[in-house]
Amino acid sequence: MPTLRLLEPTTDPAKVAEYERLKALREERKREADANWQPSGRPPLEPHQVPPGGDWMLWLLEGGRGCGKTEACARYFARHMRMRPETRGRIIAPTFGDAVESCVEGPSGLLSIDPEIRWLASAPGGAKVTWPNGSEALVLGTPFPRDVDRLRAGGNRALDWWEEMAANTQLRSAWDQAALGLRLGARPHSIASTTPRGTRDYREIRVMAGVSRTHATLFDNPHNPTEWVERMRARYEDTRLGRQELMGELLEDVEGALWTRAMMEHRVEEPPELTRVVVAVDPAVTSGESADDTGIVVAGRGADGHAYVLEDASCHLSPDQWARRVVRAYHAHGADRVIAEVNNGGELVGTVLKTMDERLPYKAIHASRGKRTRAEPVAALYEQGKVHHVGGFSELEDELCSSVPGEGSSPDRLDALVWAVTELMLGSGGPLRILVPQGRVPGVPRRGTNSGRFGAIGRW
Ligand SMILES: Nc1ncnc2c1ncn2[C@@H]1O[C@H](COP(=O)(O)OP(=O)(O)OP(=O)(O)O)[C@@H](O)[C@H]1O
Ligand SMILES: [Mg+2]
Repeated sequence: MPTLRLLEPTTDPAKVAEYERLKALREERKREADANWQPSGRPPLEPHQVPPGGDWMLWLLEGGRGCGKTEACARYFARHMRMRPETRGRIIAPTFGDAVESCVEGPSGLLSIDPEIRWLASAPGGAKVTWPNGSEALVLGTPFPRDVDRLRAGGNRALDWWEEMAANTQLRSAWDQAALGLRLGARPHSIASTTPRGTRDYREIRVMAGVSRTHATLFDNPHNPTEWVERMRARYEDTRLGRQELMGELLEDVEGALWTRAMMEHRVEEPPELTRVVVAVDPAVTSGESADDTGIVVAGRGADGHAYVLEDASCHLSPDQWARRVVRAYHAHGADRVIAEVNNGGELVGTVLKTMDERLPYKAIHASRGKRTRAEPVAALYEQGKVHHVGGFSELEDELCSSVPGEGSSPDRLDALVWAVTELMLGSGGPLRILVPQGRVPGVPRRGTNSGRFGAIGRW
């Protein structure tokens, strides 16, 4: 039977030196292995996904949709965490859901990239991903000012990954707060993956000293499904928004557009008491890949007389699927009414909605004025600070700020928004078509001072 022999601590300098040498060698080998680490079975990085050289404090990978931004940052992040045991990092996205969906669980997220990562969605100090070597990263979203405080509570960090940085509605305050705690290790720094947007905060950050910007277009990534690329091309090619969405260009405030980025800045965290809420629909009356999106925007009128945009539920779905979304939004927001434009074959809308929920209060609107004439007074209300976004709606805001009336096809989110705000603030004037019988709709909460709103037909 083998005897166990206790190793005596040694003070022999030769043995100690040899031990230290072997230990350093082992660590060096491990570092090399981690430095050269590639996710197994995944193709190598594309040239635009390789981090730039030099001593940057922020690597900003700006690009079109699907260009491989998230994958590039996920691989950088995972490698960095593997190479340096006990590193504390952070992943900061516009919302927590975005962070989980893109950076953690999505096809280009950390769990797909590095099988050794553990995802602790309900860890005591906040959701985090951990590595076997003790490295960990907090996963956060900052949709509202109160979320920015959580950046402070998370303690100091060595590496931040800003996912879809330009879509972060709290960007400036979140960046400033994060910077205060980004001070661990020899070279604390950040990386960011984003499709650029012309918000004031983003413009300021992208040109700061120490920022190294790289760029890619959708077409630089050969790993997207061909049909998807073609669909994106069909939808955006030769449009202003396509320069941003496909080519990853930063659009300046667009000459001729009725909205500017500055007009988006009246956003609020919570709406006040609302006296009236509508769900506005700009329907796609055909379905299939080439069909338009269906714009679905929910907005309310506050007791202060201002309008509050509550949700952009726009989608690219078949009529029965978008109708389901409309009905869900109607109930979720305790709305008073659904309104829809019925110009282009949209008579279908009432029928589809009625099939979903026959008691839905619905008003069909026939657009009699031109789009510009309809949109201008709504844009003027924005300019006066009387329309507020509750949180941020990056796709809707992109459409507002990049569309020029009369040029190209009219964007669906914008149209739905114009209908909603017109209805709440300006009076839409179209004939009513009420599908609901008189009486209160069961299960729909009453809200605020708006009692009796299910009174006589035509009253509202
Ligand atoms: N080097 C690569 N090797 C293999 N697949 C890749 C590579 N780079 C990107 N991909 C894949 O291409 C697809 C798009 O990449 P990714 O999600 O990183 O793009 P994105 O620019 O973040 O897109 P989005 O604009 O939708 O956020 C993903 O399925 C991703 O896994
Ligand atoms: Mg992405």
